Amino acid sequence: MIKTEDLGKSFGPVIAVNEVNLHVPAGDIYGLVGPDGAGKTTLMRMICGLIVPDRGRVLLTAPAAGHEKRSGGSMLGYMPQRFGLYGDLTVMENINFFGALYKINRSTIKERAEEILEMTGLLPFKDRLADNLSGGMKQKLALTCALVTRPGLLVLDEPTYGVDPGSRKEFWRVLYGLNRKGMTILVSTPYMDEAELCAKVAFMDRGRVVAADSPARLKSSFPYRVLEVRVDVRQPELFNGLPQLVDVSYYGDKYRVVVEDVQTARQAMEQRLEASGLGSGLCWSEVNPTMEDVFIVLAEKEVV
Ligand SMILES: Nc1ncnc2c1ncn2[C@@H]1O[C@H](COP(=O)(O)OP(=O)(O)OP(=O)(O)O)[C@@H](O)[C@H]1O
Ligand SMILES: [Mg+2]
Repeated sequence: MIKTEDLGKSFGPVIAVNEVNLHVPAGDIYGLVGPDGAGKTTLMRMICGLIVPDRGRVLLTAPAAGHEKRSGGSMLGYMPQRFGLYGDLTVMENINFFGALYKINRSTIKERAEEILEMTGLLPFKDRLADNLSGGMKQKLALTCALVTRPGLLVLDEPTYGVDPGSRKEFWRVLYGLNRKGMTILVSTPYMDEAELCAKVAFMDRGRVVAADSPARLKSSFPYRVLEVRVDVRQPELFNGLPQLVDVSYYGDKYRVVVEDVQTARQAMEQRLEASGLGSGLCWSEVNPTMEDVFIVLAEKEVV
């Protein structure tokens, strides 16, 4: 459905997207993750034809046979990272405005809008000013606007950023509903629990896609082991700077430690604990890696 070939884009000296070969099969929910400035928005905007690539090309193909035929629909819907809703227009007026931009007639817009508003739970709010919607509702309205053209491919740039966990869950329920009807979805997200919900995830870092696979395979091919370590003291930086640890994060009452070798890491942590005079009560257990662990390690890896 989406194929990019050696795609590249620079802004002056900054290489925003660098030799990206992405393949999003028809019918997938495909995730795009990566640190700030990794190039996600630039990649999506090239896929949507809003930015002309400097190098390579984008190929978009119609949905594969067997997927629902979409009569009168456009191929692509795009929800940008900062979506411009009109705050002094109501929900329905925003949708009408958006639909009119695409020259869709009023009755078709109304019919589609009601269907989508019903699905997103916004129908009771259709006469409310956009300014008076909650953050989660605003994102759903932005999604409704992107759907009014009935696209076969939906490109969403961080659609749930800053939205509370309940509304994020609700938003994903809608995405799954659309996907079940045959819509291909490319979505960027800063939330690893959302990455987990995608069929495949591409990790971007400094313009490149450094890994692309299913969440299960990304986790099973994680080259390190993960420990949860508890000590009696609360000192976030206790294990910082130990060369035997690949990564360490502190979560209130425990440390999450990524290591290459469990034994040498454990010894190093025990020594550090004793040397700091904080006792010797190191309690640890091995846990399965999460997408968060995969993300942190990939984002910290130096690109050679
Ligand atoms: N129009 C532009 N002019 C100049 N530089 C730009 C432009 N758009 C993006 N960049 C630069 O390109 C790089 C990639 O930016 P991009 O917005 O694609 O990253 P991103 O992964 O979407 O980041 P975020 O997670 O913060 O949204 C950054 O260094 C950014 O500053
Ligand atoms: Mg972005």
